[in-house]
Order: sequence, then structure tokens, then C-alpha cells
Amino acid sequence: MKDQQLTSLLNQMTLEEKIAQLQQLAANFYEGAEEGGQITGPMASMGITDHMIENSGSVLGLSGAEQVIAVQEAHLRKNRLGIPLLMMADIVHGFKTIFPVPLAIGCSWDMERAELSAEIAAKEAAVSGVHVTFAPMADLVRDPRWGRVMESTGEDPYLNGRFARAFVRGFQGNDLTDDVSRLAACVKHFAAYGLSEGGRDYNTVDLSERQLREYYLPAYRAALDEGAEMVMTSFNTIDGIPISGNVKLLRQLLREEWGFDGVLISDWGAVKELIPHGVAEDEAEAALKAIKASVDIEMMTECYVHQLPALVADGQVDESIIDEAVLRILKLKQRLGLFENPLRGADIEKEREVIFCEAHRTAARELAVKSCVLLKNDQVLPLTTEQRIALIGPFANNGDILGPWSWLGSTEEASRLAPALEARAAAGKVTVAEGSGIESFTEEQWLEAKAVALEADVIVLALGEHSDMSGEAGSRSDICLPEAQRELLQRMKTLGKPIVVVLFNGRPLDLSGVIENADAILEAWFPGSEGGAAITSLLYGDENPSGRLTMSFPVSVGQIPVYYNHFNTGRPLHAPGADKRYVSQYLDIPNEPFLPFGFGLSYTTFSYSEPNLSGEIMTKDQPIKVTVTVTNTGNVQGEEVVQLYIRDISGEVVRPMKELKDFAKISLSPGECKEVSFTLTEAQLRYYHSDLSFSSDPGQFKLFVGPNSQEVKERDFRLTLA
Ligand code: NOJ
Repeated sequence: MKDQQLTSLLNQMTLEEKIAQLQQLAANFYEGAEEGGQITGPMASMGITDHMIENSGSVLGLSGAEQVIAVQEAHLRKNRLGIPLLMMADIVHGFKTIFPVPLAIGCSWDMERAELSAEIAAKEAAVSGVHVTFAPMADLVRDPRWGRVMESTGEDPYLNGRFARAFVRGFQGNDLTDDVSRLAACVKHFAAYGLSEGGRDYNTVDLSERQLREYYLPAYRAALDEGAEMVMTSFNTIDGIPISGNVKLLRQLLREEWGFDGVLISDWGAVKELIPHGVAEDEAEAALKAIKASVDIEMMTECYVHQLPALVADGQVDESIIDEAVLRILKLKQRLGLFENPLRGADIEKEREVIFCEAHRTAARELAVKSCVLLKNDQVLPLTTEQRIALIGPFANNGDILGPWSWLGSTEEASRLAPALEARAAAGKVTVAEGSGIESFTEEQWLEAKAVALEADVIVLALGEHSDMSGEAGSRSDICLPEAQRELLQRMKTLGKPIVVVLFNGRPLDLSGVIENADAILEAWFPGSEGGAAITSLLYGDENPSGRLTMSFPVSVGQIPVYYNHFNTGRPLHAPGADKRYVSQYLDIPNEPFLPFGFGLSYTTFSYSEPNLSGEIMTKDQPIKVTVTVTNTGNVQGEEVVQLYIRDISGEVVRPMKELKDFAKISLSPGECKEVSFTLTEAQLRYYHSDLSFSSDPGQFKLFVGPNSQEVKERDFRLTLA
């Protein structure tokens, strides 16, 4: 359909038909649509009529080619103008083939594999009839109490931006019209949802506009620069205004300043939530605020369909505003080719071929391998085939390793650790015991586990969080491993055998009680459908761990927020000659996180040369080339993530102690060395000033190169802007 035809379609629509396009309801509202539809339960109580359903523009969470085809065909039979439905769903880290959770993918620092994971997720979802995914989530996160950190790639704006772009490329490909195996991407949650106070979900956010622009907005912006079709609002407030009614953030910044002309959808119920937030007295005021802020689609509440007709009739809302919103939705349908091909990729035959196929599972396994982070290893790993292994713990033989947002993944079909280890070890070398539940521990479990452990050379303890302990509405104030599992570990320690802990979880944990009792720790996160196989290959050294943390692990909850790119203070703790007391510190814990951003061990070791600079003066036209030689000083092949950070020593506003500017992931054979070069330009030194201008300041800088944000070699340079 051509643009002109879209406008003429719009002109044929009644106001009621237009407003119905702005309503999004969940799949259950469409059940029975094939048979003519019927108002039941939620529809009746929400005042949603059959007529509204017949004219609605999109559906949330419907998938399965057969069902989607039936709903779309029934819809087209009833819809007066033959406008197809958009099928939207949360395809976050896989559809049926589940990849590691995004925080784990972040730790891979592997853009190609991240992109491939999104491409595969799109392929599987598209044959099942989905058109749009509510991903990527580009929220920057600093508080591991917040359950949704598992949906983010971490605490760094630059890295999050790189991942956001990779995910968008993977989901969307180059041409949504012709390539029906791709999905339109909806970047979320705009904006700064990751800063929810106290890590409590849906909570208040307040920050300066400068901070917002510097840390929180870049990753959403990167997704849009990559062409993401849609944006979702976040639940939080900023500066006292809930985002779904925030004119400054949505209409002024997103639309006018950034020029975003795609579809903007509210998060689930967020338009009506303007009432409990306390900025709207009733549904009419909520609808008015949201439409004025330029929210096109209202997800799961009904303020628009009920209130907009009267608001237009009494002149509070100009019909042209509704027209703009509808046109954006129609244009998305056009770009997806839905007018010509309303069933798009939905294909029952192909579903059988594509979904959860071997190639997809291999990609999931490979990414899980790259996402695990080795946190400690006192010469226990890798295991050898001949060792007798006691595999103990609530995750020893547990399929709950897919993590939140894996609604279509099958925990039954997930690769569990026990069978994977048994298949890899020599016959009869692995014995399994549950040891404890996730939050429960009995003497019986202990006695059984103890007997198994006493017969073994090495204990592998598979511990972690239930998948409900993170994700949406999964905030926790205590982020230690549940007590039952710490007790199990402590008792195991008394047996005097080497202990390897494998962790399954969705957030950086407080590792108290774990770090002192484990000889090795492998952070496996929620590794997805192929988790067991991936972890096994790492434990046995068939693969070498290469993941690096993208979110700091705190010493304790009292240290949160703790992140690598923080400011210095006027009274830094480690300054030469600093006072012992009157400095910025805790009396009882260090200032540094327990494990810093960028950290991760390998079965080999790497050494870094001093960084070599092409010059010590940078100008606008003369970048600095930084070269460092990295050597594999161990005995096995390994991958290293070489990280480049800078610090602006004196800015117009205070600058972070370190900022990641680039990185390179390299593979080295034993004894091999490689030269890694980065080109650092003046543009990379720019930042938001107090007047919100974006520029660099001449003067002194430091650059740092190293294996993580703490262990670095540094050099000085100057920027001159003559
Ligand atoms: C609420 C969540 O915040 C959002 O991430 C998700 O996309 C929607 N629900 C739709 O399921």
C-alpha cells in the first residue's frame, strides 16, 4: 500500500474506528474470535465491546501460526475497512529456543552472537505469526535489587548502546516488508526505568536532565539510530511526571528533538496508572495527558476508547492528534507488508521446521558458553574426565534455567546440568543429589547429599535463585543466596573436598557465604535452553570461560548503588595523605565493589604491555592511536576482552572516574601475542555540559587499558582545541 492510499484509508475511518486502533488488548480478548467472538470476563468488566475488538489495531501476546491465522482472518472478515491486526509479543531472549538472559548476553561482549540470538528469536516468532517484539530493553541498571536487571545488558551506556543496536539489527534485518522472518523491534522502557528508587519495581525515578542524557538515554537512542520501529514508555516518573503523560520527555524530546515518528506504546496499564500516580483525577484526564504526550497505543487499559470520543467532541483533543497516532500505526502495518500479506510469516509447516531446530539450539549453546563468567578458581577447574563428581544442589537437575521472559520456552526440554555432566564424564563418575531446595533444607536431604559427596573427588554445587526471584515484580532487598543453600554449602565445606559452585540467577548477588566456602565459582546466570550442555563444556575445559561482568557485584546490599563509572569526591578515600576518617568511605566495607565491571577469569592468563600512544596530544583532526600487546601466558587457548577507558581529569562538570570507550575481544593460543589498537577521537571525549550542550573540554585526560575496570595500565594525554 502506498502512502497516499494510507491517507485515503485514514480519511474513510470514523472517529470511533480510529480510536479503536489505539487500543491494545491481550490475546485472551480474541479467544473464540474465529467463531464469531463473545464478550466474556475482562471485556465486559472493562466495558470493551465486540465492536471495539473488531476495530482494534493490535493484539498482545498471541502466537502460534494456527491461532494467529484464525484470529487475523476472523478479524478481516469483520473489520469494515479490512485493516489487519498487528501481533505484538515479548520475545525477549528467544521464542522457543531460549538464549541466556540479556544480562548474561551482555557478559559475552559478543555483538555478532547477540545479533544472531535476536535474528533466531525473530525467525521462530515470525513463523508463529508475531510481527512486533517488545525488545530490546535498553535500560541502564545499577541496582541489583531490581529484578529487571536481568533484562538489561548492564551498567555502561556505551556497551548497552552497542547491544541495543545489535539486537535491533537481529530482530529487524534490513527490510521488514520483504523479509517476513523478521520482527519490528520496540525499544523499552523509555526512560530511565532502571533507576527505580531502592530497586523496587515500578518505583519513582528522579534525576537531573544532564544525568538522564549522559547515562540513561544513549542506549535507547542507539536502538532508534539503528532503526527500531517502536518505543514503549516506562512505568516510572521523572521529575514528578509519570512517563506515559510526560510531554517533555515524549513529545518534546523523543518526537520533536529526536525526530522519532514511529509508534509509541504505553507499558501495560500505564495510561490508567496516571490516576494512582496522582496526576490524573479520572480516565478522561489520563487519556488526555497520554495522547497529548503522544502515546499512540494504550496497552491493556481502556481510557482511550472510552474517553477520547468525548474529549474530541468537546474540543479538548484535536482530531488531528488522533489522526497522527493512527497514521503511525497504519504506517507500521504498511512497513510490515500487512495490507498485502496480513498473515505475513505465519506458517504452520515452517513452524515445525524452524522452531527449536538444531541450528538454533547450537547458537543458544554457543552464546551460553560465551555468557558464563568464571568468578573464582583456586585450581579446581577444569574438571577431568576421570574425577568422581558429586553434583548436588537445587539446580543439579532442574529445568528452571530459562529465566524470566521465556514464556514459550520449555523447561522440560531444557538441557539440565545432571544429564549433560553424566554424558561428558566417564561412565559412572557423576552422582547426583538434590542437597536442598531453593529455599528449604532438610536433614534427610543433607544426609543423602553428604553420602554422595563423601564418595567424590570434587563437589559441584548447582545453586541459585528461582526464576521468579528476578524479572518484572521480582525485586529483593536481600540479594544473598537463600539461606538454605548457604547452609548446604557451609556443611559441604566441612567435608574437606574441593567445591565448585555453579550459580543460576538473574542479578549480581551478594556472595557472602559463597565466596569463602567455594574453591571455584562459575556464574551461569539463567543460561537458556542449552544451559546444561554449555556449562558442562566449560567445567570440563572443552571451552574456556570468556565472559566478563557488565554489572558490578556489590560487597553487600548496603553498598548499592555501586558501579564503575562513578564520580570522584572532594575527599577521595585513596588520595595520598588522605585523612583516615574524614574521607568518603564506609567504616565497615570497602568502597570498591566485590567484583568490578569487566571482570572475569579464564583457564589461561594474559599479560598486557604498557599502552603505546601515537602521540600525547589529541586535536579535533588528530586522534590518538592506542596500541597494547596482549600475550596468552598460560597453557590453553583463551579469549580476552581488552578494555579501553578514559578519564577527563578536569571537566566543566565532574566526570566519571572511568568511562568505557572501546573494547576488543581477541582469541589467543598459548604463548601467542597480539597487538590490539584503538583509535580514540575527540568525539569520544564529548559529554553533556551544565547547559546540556554536548562537547569536549580541552585539557588533561587519562586513558586506561586492561582486562577489567580496576586492573588497568594508564597513560596521560591532552586534548587541545586551538
Ligand atoms: C509489562 C512490562 O513492563 C513490559 O516490559 C512488557 O513488554 C509488557 N508488560 C507487555 O508484556
